[in-house]
Amino acid sequence: MTVEDIKNLETAALREIRGARSPEDLERLRVSYLGRKGALTGILRSLGKLDPEMRRNVGQEANRAKEALEAALDQALSALKTAARLAETTTVDVTLPGRRLPRGRLHPLNRIMAEVCDIFLHLGFEAVEGPEVELDWYNFEALNLPPDHPARDMQDTFYFNDKVLLRTHTSPMQIRTMEVRQPPVRIIAPGKVYRRDSDITHSPMFHQVEGLLVDKGVTFADLKGVLTAFVHQMFGPEVGVRFRPSYFPFTEPSAEVDIECVMCGGHGCRVCQATGWLEVLGSGMVHPAVFEAVGYDPEIYTGFAFGLGIERIAMLKYGVDDIRLFFDNDLRFLRQF
Ligand code: FA5
Repeated sequence: MTVEDIKNLETAALREIRGARSPEDLERLRVSYLGRKGALTGILRSLGKLDPEMRRNVGQEANRAKEALEAALDQALSALKTAARLAETTTVDVTLPGRRLPRGRLHPLNRIMAEVCDIFLHLGFEAVEGPEVELDWYNFEALNLPPDHPARDMQDTFYFNDKVLLRTHTSPMQIRTMEVRQPPVRIIAPGKVYRRDSDITHSPMFHQVEGLLVDKGVTFADLKGVLTAFVHQMFGPEVGVRFRPSYFPFTEPSAEVDIECVMCGGHGCRVCQATGWLEVLGSGMVHPAVFEAVGYDPEIYTGFAFGLGIERIAMLKYGVDDIRLFFDNDLRFLRQF
């Protein structure tokens, strides 16, 4: 037995290992070379018969060959396993369920907007739309907002120039509608509005829905009836509603509508600042000066108007405490609705 013999044996074994097609083939080779009666094992066993010089050389070579064959067998086995796994996954398993396609859904603000409009459409209102870039006349002047009114301040309004601005509310649609229609008028005007305002409850762009009803004999009782019906449809019939005196230049008398705090049920909490009530909209009887600006006779017609903030309603309905979450477009937030 010589070093040369061992090298030949190793070469033959490696060739066979490379040609193996299954784990069983490999196991057979392992047994025939490295098993108890294997060829290489036999050589290692018979080392004692060699003279000491030969024994050392042949012994070293036989041990090296043994390690090389073990490594080659392991490597070949894992290559066969990988190939088997790949073959398995590339065949089609028709019993597997299909892959689901991700489905889009409406943004929570669009949903609330649709829900709010739906309630008023069912009450007999018609939806109209108007420009976001607006004239000072429609946004302020015709709405009885005198030139020195604080709401016209640069602090609150995005101006393009003296006469053109981004509308700060949807109320200009009251004027635009009455200008071109005769009573009875019964409209809502949904849309985007803009103010220089930004914190956890105020956004520089937000959505309002304006409402306007004008006819002969319209009273504050009609305003209360319509807005109470709205709140009950939106938040549930058990929610308390109150009309609180307020001021808007284009309505007289004016009222803000509060609902019982939906977070604490009216007991008082952080959200309602311990009052038990939350403001949802502004409203009032159309001011005679507004009728005069559009050529309606205030002696013949009366009417009521209201304006509500969609973000505010969405925050209350979904329990969201930061308005900016609606505009971040973070899918983790949006997927919850
Ligand atoms: C108005 O805008 C009046 N035009 C409403 C009105 C219409 C009164 C018709 C009478 C008759 P106010 O500024 O209070 O009113 O805004 C109405 C609602 O818009 C508020 O109740 C609030 O919900 C929402 N709002 C106001 N500012 C912001 C803001 N920066 N971000 C989000 N929502 C806002």
